[in-house]
Amino acid sequence: MQTVTVKAESRTYDVLIGKGLLDRAGELVSEVSGPCRVCVITDETVETLYAAALEESLKKAGFDPVRFAFPPGETSKNPEQLIRILRFLAEEKLTRSDMIIALGGGVAGDLAGLTASLYLRGVKLIQIPTTLLAMVDSSVGGKTAVDLPEGKNLMGSFYQPHRVICDPEVLATLPEDIFADGCAEVIKYGQICRMEIFDWMKDPKARMEELISECIRIKRDIVQRDEKDTGERQLLNFGHTFGHGIEKCSGYEISHGKAVAIGMVLMARGAARMGTGTEECLHTLVRVIERAGLPTETGFTAEEIFGAVLSDKKRAGDFITLVIPDHTGHCRLERMPVETAKQYLIRGLDRR
Ligand code: NAD
Ligand code: GLY
Repeated sequence: MQTVTVKAESRTYDVLIGKGLLDRAGELVSEVSGPCRVCVITDETVETLYAAALEESLKKAGFDPVRFAFPPGETSKNPEQLIRILRFLAEEKLTRSDMIIALGGGVAGDLAGLTASLYLRGVKLIQIPTTLLAMVDSSVGGKTAVDLPEGKNLMGSFYQPHRVICDPEVLATLPEDIFADGCAEVIKYGQICRMEIFDWMKDPKARMEELISECIRIKRDIVQRDEKDTGERQLLNFGHTFGHGIEKCSGYEISHGKAVAIGMVLMARGAARMGTGTEECLHTLVRVIERAGLPTETGFTAEEIFGAVLSDKKRAGDFITLVIPDHTGHCRLERMPVETAKQYLIRGLDRR
């Protein structure tokens, strides 16, 4: 088992990574809380696969679990579902000394995380991610959110978990294309600061535990320096500004990971053509993304994507901060007028 300790300003906690940890979850949770009631928040697919094993382990360790399962997919990440969960917790009479466990992918993690930050003004939260994306990214760092009709992740909070438990064995049941979604976030880490990850991506499953731990360490280091996303943490949004636009344009038919993959390519091509990046960086990124089985192009127009981008959180007045991939394995932040950002998108979409 590997342990990565996150020392964020608001909380210090351990991320535990190791095969077989799901069956030991009760014992690992008891290290951060005495016996209490626990609400396991999960989606219906993950529920059938892993909820019983988790709850058995929790009971053995003296916890009293209840469960809330919602339909899988991004369309469940909304305020109505959030209210349903909050009301369930109130009906079940969970108190401030009780706990929430997010069991699932990024959708369960974001939804349960926001619930934990709101219920009774904050109860203990354990993240048990079951997708590659949630293991390497969403379960760590404390961003929680739901989507509004106007845009993605527009209602949220920063709320660090009390512990994260990653068991790579659960990835065995993950469909290949959902595994690929997580590869997009892994490739993101490679491009922002660690190009060796691109070699690792030739066979990501060969050293899964190490790859997950390495990504978490990269995220940990950035989050420790900028928990509230006012500066350096925005690097973790590489590919996300245009990616979120694409997700929204597709009515969330295109998954987060696939939209981010396309968003990274659009930024790399835009930067190469605007003279702030290189063709070599673009080609390397396209090769790694294609090898991971992810898309690199979209049929949406600049107008369609940019309309959605304008409601993104990364916008501040008439300015927006873009993450520019200036060369392979490196990105920098640039605050620019929204009109310049649109030029990046237009040039990024132009494959000539
Ligand atoms: P997801 O949670 O929708 O999971 C994808 C699918 O995989 C679902 O259908 C789920 O039922 C299924 N699944 C999950 N684990 C499984 C398993 N072990 N075996 C079989 N099926 C399994 O999607 P995701 O890609 O994990 O997460 C995407 C979400 O994460 C987006 O909403 C995105 O905005 C969010 N996100 C948040 C952060 C953050 O910092 N909070 C970072 C990145 C992404
Ligand atoms: N996934 C981006 C972040 O956590 O900041």
